Amino acid sequence: MSASFRFSHAITRKPAPSITKGLRAIDIGTPDLDLMQGHHADYIAALRRTGAEVIELPALNAFPDSVFVEDTALCLPQGAVIMRPGAPSRLGEAAEMAPHLATLYREVRHISGADSFIEGGDILTTEREILVGRSARTNAAGVAELKTLVADWGHTLREVSTPPGVLHFKTDCSLLDGETILSTERLAASGCFPGYRVIHTAEGEDACANAIRFNDLVIMPAGFPKTRDLLDKAGFKVVEVGNSECAKLDGGMSCLSLRFTPRT
Ligand code: GLY
Repeated sequence: MSASFRFSHAITRKPAPSITKGLRAIDIGTPDLDLMQGHHADYIAALRRTGAEVIELPALNAFPDSVFVEDTALCLPQGAVIMRPGAPSRLGEAAEMAPHLATLYREVRHISGADSFIEGGDILTTEREILVGRSARTNAAGVAELKTLVADWGHTLREVSTPPGVLHFKTDCSLLDGETILSTERLAASGCFPGYRVIHTAEGEDACANAIRFNDLVIMPAGFPKTRDLLDKAGFKVVEVGNSECAKLDGGMSCLSLRFTPRT
């Protein structure tokens, strides 16, 4: 079993010109659309290198953060769950994603409670469980609703905490294989990964904790050589992709795609 990192499909969305108005915790500069488009193309090429089908959705200028498609849905083998993003400016992105997943999955469920908020960036699916970090974007009602929605698909959900001041749970961690997680020391210190093998990001390189294992590749942001070497030595096949522009909006490798194998 390796359903948590072997995928037949990915969905991405082109960055929109409005990306310059994207949400960010701290303003460290305006993202350059041309450069972001180049990085995005490299990212899609890396996904395709693995043999997966990559669906590229058109840009949505009404939603500045819509390139970060991961927050709109949780894709499992049995079906997809459409999220309710906790950022008001992003709420409408989920409805934009739903019809695309409906063409690929027999079953699409929805987080629907008016008080339920949950974003895909707070969800790490492993071989044995779904970890969901409570955060400024993901609340208890959202976690509880997701837990109910996935129970009859055979999934166990465990609530954990996203570190204070960190956008999403997966800002600080990534799945590397069926038993291994890349994590910042600050997140791993919370004790949320019992029974997993944890590889810590190298000193000073917390910003590369958001990587993805996609089929045979680990796709990580460029510019973090110590962590890249750690992953190389651990036997992972690493591909680096520029992320300087998405990083200005607190975005990383996982944020840029939905990755899945729909069961037909
Ligand atoms: N800029 C990505 C987000 O805040 O959701």
